[in-house]
Amino acid sequence: MEIVSSISRMQELSALARRDGRIIGFVPTMGYLHEGHLSLMRIARKKCDVLVVSIFVNPTQFGAGEDLAQYPRDIERDKKLCREEGVDVIFLPDEREMYPENYSTYVEVSGNITNVLCGYFRPGHFRGVATVVAKLFNIVQPHFAVFGQKDGQQLAVIRRMVRDLNYPVEIIGAPTVREPDGLAMSSRNEYLTPKERKVAPTLYKSLLMAKELIESGERNPKVIIDAMRNMIEKTGLFRIQYIEVVDADTLRPVKKIDGKVMIALAAFLGKARLIDNIIVSS
Ligand code: PAJ
Repeated sequence: MEIVSSISRMQELSALARRDGRIIGFVPTMGYLHEGHLSLMRIARKKCDVLVVSIFVNPTQFGAGEDLAQYPRDIERDKKLCREEGVDVIFLPDEREMYPENYSTYVEVSGNITNVLCGYFRPGHFRGVATVVAKLFNIVQPHFAVFGQKDGQQLAVIRRMVRDLNYPVEIIGAPTVREPDGLAMSSRNEYLTPKERKVAPTLYKSLLMAKELIESGERNPKVIIDAMRNMIEKTGLFRIQYIEVVDADTLRPVKKIDGKVMIALAAFLGKARLIDNIIVSS
């Protein structure tokens, strides 16, 4: 496994691999790796000759007052986990390498897809995500990249960017990996106190209840959202940011449930902002 911190060395490795006809698979991350990240690596590993994982806590996707400074890091552990998953290259740039002085170019996926859900509450977040992912694609030059459904809106935004800017990169969506009690794995679960950790699975329970309601015929999103809100608020510990039922592809809020929808939510639990979603077909 090679650890590469320079952009030019990464581009050189990728050019050599491509010249030899080797397929490059890519998993971008912000590190502090858990089973969710490892599942993406396993999916990629099966389909490629060269597996590249990037670890970069991207400052441009964090808003003022968000957790950039506290974001958990453990690079030695991450390297060990990558080695165990058969990763060929870790791309590990520092901030200066990615955003040199006078950096001034950004990628903005505009419109409904970034104005709703997390995009509404974290202005500029998806601009930072799209910018760094566009840069990473130019640096790693992958044939395909794997992203988790856990960040459902991010996956939709990246798909849109790749389509709109004609990136020759196949985007593969991967299922959400959960703890045994249902809590979606996240580096931010680290922030939870034992008491908070205990109630955290309520979010997923509310999503499962929503799924059952739809499967038993409920078609009114408001009824579903109210039932979820009640279940989550009963714990007395969450501060809900949003609960929405949107079209799974366009992310437009739906008035009546019909076809494939994404039920998505975000809530603060102590210091942690947790997000989760499921896709349900009526
Ligand atoms: P990060 O939060 O580290 O997540 C990296 C990738 O792992 C994303 O594609 C995310 O959806 C996926 N992932 C996280 N938790 C998961 C889980 N429980 N199950 C399945 N997949 C999971 O997302 C980012 O970093 C950044 O925004 C990034 C794309 C790297 C750009 O900076």
